[in-house]
Amino acid sequence: MNMLAKDFGDDFLWGVATAASQIEGAATTYGRGASIWDTFSKRNGKIKKSHNPEIACDFYHQYKTDIALVKTLGFKIFRFSISWSRILPEGRGSINAEGIQFYHHVIDECLKQGITPYVTLYHWDLPETLAKHGGWTAFSINADFIAFVTLCAKTYGDKVKNWIVINEPFGFTSLGYMLGIHAPGETGLTNFFSAVKHTALAQADGGKILRAEVDNANIGTTFSCSEIIPYTQNASDLLAAKRIDCLMNRLFIEPTLGMGFPTAGWDVLEKFAVSHSLWRYQERMTFDFDYIGLQNYFPLVIKYNAFIPVIQAWEVKAKSRKKPHTAMGWEINAESFYNIIKQFAAYPKVKNIMITENGAAFIDKLIAGRVHDEDRIEYFKLYLAAMLKAKNEGINITGYMAWTLMDNFEWAEGYDARFGLIYNDFKTQERTIKDSGLWWKDFLSEGNRK
Ligand code: NOJ
Repeated sequence: MNMLAKDFGDDFLWGVATAASQIEGAATTYGRGASIWDTFSKRNGKIKKSHNPEIACDFYHQYKTDIALVKTLGFKIFRFSISWSRILPEGRGSINAEGIQFYHHVIDECLKQGITPYVTLYHWDLPETLAKHGGWTAFSINADFIAFVTLCAKTYGDKVKNWIVINEPFGFTSLGYMLGIHAPGETGLTNFFSAVKHTALAQADGGKILRAEVDNANIGTTFSCSEIIPYTQNASDLLAAKRIDCLMNRLFIEPTLGMGFPTAGWDVLEKFAVSHSLWRYQERMTFDFDYIGLQNYFPLVIKYNAFIPVIQAWEVKAKSRKKPHTAMGWEINAESFYNIIKQFAAYPKVKNIMITENGAAFIDKLIAGRVHDEDRIEYFKLYLAAMLKAKNEGINITGYMAWTLMDNFEWAEGYDARFGLIYNDFKTQERTIKDSGLWWKDFLSEGNRK
């Protein structure tokens, strides 16, 4: 495969992404309040091996050398998130000056090293105090989010121009409020739909605040996306796939674009819209984002299953279909990446796409100071080629961020799911650039033709 970074154009933006709870650590110190992930990880059996994010990668103390590593690998963008409970320990009210200072330091260090910061406002770590008031299911969350975003915009807006309002709204509302496998561990459709409504409002509210408060802001938000492939062409499988598509791909972007929720695709969504009088909020949920962030990891093959309540759909896993997959069991299928980019680009109002996350976990072994992660290099080559194909067909893709800088706290999977370009030894916090990190360094410096 002959592919060079410059094939994507000289102004294409290359970055690497992270999130506060997954890397920072210092969870109980320097005035930080608890987040829902701190409390959730104390509940029995919620996180593999009872891991918790208390220390994570200790980025709080190592941010200077970690940002230097971003630079070493050749990336021009560092994406990180602000921990809400670090700057507002109770989620609202009194401000933690040390927390405010910490992000000034991180931002200043990026700028000093010639790295552009992309700041995510909400990457899943709700302050625990707000969870006690109902979290994303509570009407009050919207006022709290507005206050938090206003504080961030006023505090950092002179230095930070690139923003991401919310990370994967479908991810945290479904895993955290319907399935209970992520924090705060709530379940059921009632919780889920309340969280969906408030999150859709928060996403647009956040965009509007940034627009008002930050001069020359470049404002985005991110959506998880997966090509949904029906298991067969039978009517029941086709309909099951359509329901999942409404949920996983269309649920949040369509209200953002001013199209309302995709109620025509599934009667359960119609009921949700009617019972919450969502037509009243259509305008407030709309915001003209400067770019749409897409995050893709896998396609889903979907089969009808009458025994699954409400959704009546079931995923046929990659393993049982004997398809190549990562350590997470996620199918490696770059063509599906190309297809889902095209699906999102087909919305007339989506003008500019950034891939804000893409990457893979594999079983990595540190041997004699090296990690030979050929499988991860192959993964990136395939996925970059698929993205280039879409770009060359005229889709306006302006950047790509690899997930992730270094192995970190992978939510309910704990520390064993390693997605990093850099290996982290969680006992010593020693970082080792994996072969995939070296591949990126080479690729971004136009060092070799691959
Ligand atoms: C998406 C999430 O934004 C990120 O936090 C997570 O680690 C990756 N997916 C991999 O699961």
